[in-house]
Amino acid sequence: MKVGVIGTGYVGLVTGTCLAYLGRDVTCVDIDERKIQMLQEGRSPIYEPGLEQLIQRGIQRGNLRFSTDLGSSVNGADVIFIAVGTPPLPTGKADLSFVKAVAHEIGRSISLEKRRIVVNKSTVPIGSGNWVEMLLGEGLNQNPAWRERMVGDASETQNSPLAVRRQNAMQPKDYLLVASNPEFLREGSAINDTFYPDRIVIGASDQFATERLRALYDPIIEQTFNPPASAPRPAGFTAVPVVTTDLASAEMIKYAANAFLATKISFANEIANICERVGADIKEVVRGFGLDNRIGPRFLNAGVGWGGSCFGKDVAALIDIAREYSYEPQLLGSTVEVNRRQRNVAVFKLQESLKIIKGKTIGLMGLAFKPETDDLRDAPALDIARHLLEMGARIKAYDPIANQACLEKYPELKIEYAGDISQLAEDCDALVIVTEWEEFRNLDWSQIGDLMKNRVMIDGRNLLDPEILDAAGFKYRGIGR
Ligand SMILES: NC(=O)c1ccc[n+]([C@@H]2O[C@H](COP(=O)([O-])OP(=O)(O)OC[C@H]3O[C@@H](n4cnc5c(N)ncnc54)[C@H](O)[C@@H]3O)[C@@H](O)[C@H]2O)c1
Repeated sequence: MKVGVIGTGYVGLVTGTCLAYLGRDVTCVDIDERKIQMLQEGRSPIYEPGLEQLIQRGIQRGNLRFSTDLGSSVNGADVIFIAVGTPPLPTGKADLSFVKAVAHEIGRSISLEKRRIVVNKSTVPIGSGNWVEMLLGEGLNQNPAWRERMVGDASETQNSPLAVRRQNAMQPKDYLLVASNPEFLREGSAINDTFYPDRIVIGASDQFATERLRALYDPIIEQTFNPPASAPRPAGFTAVPVVTTDLASAEMIKYAANAFLATKISFANEIANICERVGADIKEVVRGFGLDNRIGPRFLNAGVGWGGSCFGKDVAALIDIAREYSYEPQLLGSTVEVNRRQRNVAVFKLQESLKIIKGKTIGLMGLAFKPETDDLRDAPALDIARHLLEMGARIKAYDPIANQACLEKYPELKIEYAGDISQLAEDCDALVIVTEWEEFRNLDWSQIGDLMKNRVMIDGRNLLDPEILDAAGFKYRGIGR
């Protein structure tokens, strides 16, 4: 089966590369020429463990290609994924301009020799499936092949009875069927999440689209493929549940999943803040209530708040959708508000420990919104750095992967980047763990303390053992403990 993927970001690139690994013939398209050039050379423009090797494998086998030319690239495809960004507008609404441009372009440039499935993989507001269907139709109206078929031969005019009959009989969906296939991969473990997902959701109003997508994903659903060395199959993983449903429900499943996960973290942070006041330890509390099967321990880590490219924008978009229907989603509003407040917690703890922030040197351990990625979108580190800079602090930072990305994307942030943890610690009045990178877990804290002006540690992810830090002479402050 031939596949076109439009947008080679975290989602499109991983999806296209994994489908090529499964033997599909894949062409990935992007408007970013720099990205496409890198990909054609076998280099990944994003940091994602195991991805670059799979890209190179696909290029060598000849079934993974990269291009900037949407029209000619997707023309052979049976299934076309739209995987462009849907970033938030200032109002919280999802910016659908990229989806719109792509849908129009597909309609405008597609040849009509076969029926194809256009799949919304981008996270899009409820109703977008129908909207994309309309946009494809608008694109088709500018498509020379479509117009020719609508009008027939040159002797017919567009309004002749024959042409009108022809137009009524021809429907865009005879050529382009829309489906929704929301993505649940997590950056940092995106390859594993693609090969071994918890479920695959397919939303469509037409059986043909559902069956096509099922067939496309069959090696994953039935787990019949030989896993790559970098992503071995988890023990006992034999099949993937498939949820087939209507378009609107599929779109809502994605928003509900992200809103629930964000709420779970905000809930843990709320409890952590109360723990701190009453003298309880959130780590113990979560261990106790997370063992309840109805609750589960995951996504209950208290810290400096959630971030990333999805939670904030998706919760905001869901709130916006609800308001469009005159419903005020109060729980979701609180999820966002608790998170906003939580981002200041590290700064308050620094004030408590150091009193004066002006002129102090603070070292941020980690910048990416979570470990194993270089993604800085809505990363708590950015808010913390901005806040401290405004207060007159000098900010140093060390992230094992994201230093360069931060320097390039946020040049206005006057951060001094360190090449390792020792460089970071030098002259610092305090360190703040913002991203829970594994390499931060077992360091020689006495040695690090010797490099610092003051031994203050704000553990914004509750990564460290307070007793070890105490023994190394640190004033340790975690979150909710
Ligand atoms: N990143 C994640 O972890 C994740 C997880 C699940 C779902 N999603 C959703 O998937 C979608 C994509 O997210 P992402 O993180 O991959 O975004 P991204 O910003 O990393 O990538 C989007 C890509 O689309 C390209 N693009 C924009 N307009 C284009 C056009 N007209 N033609 C071709 N390419 C175009 C951009 O150049 C960019 O490379 C979003 O809706 C997001 O919410 C993301």
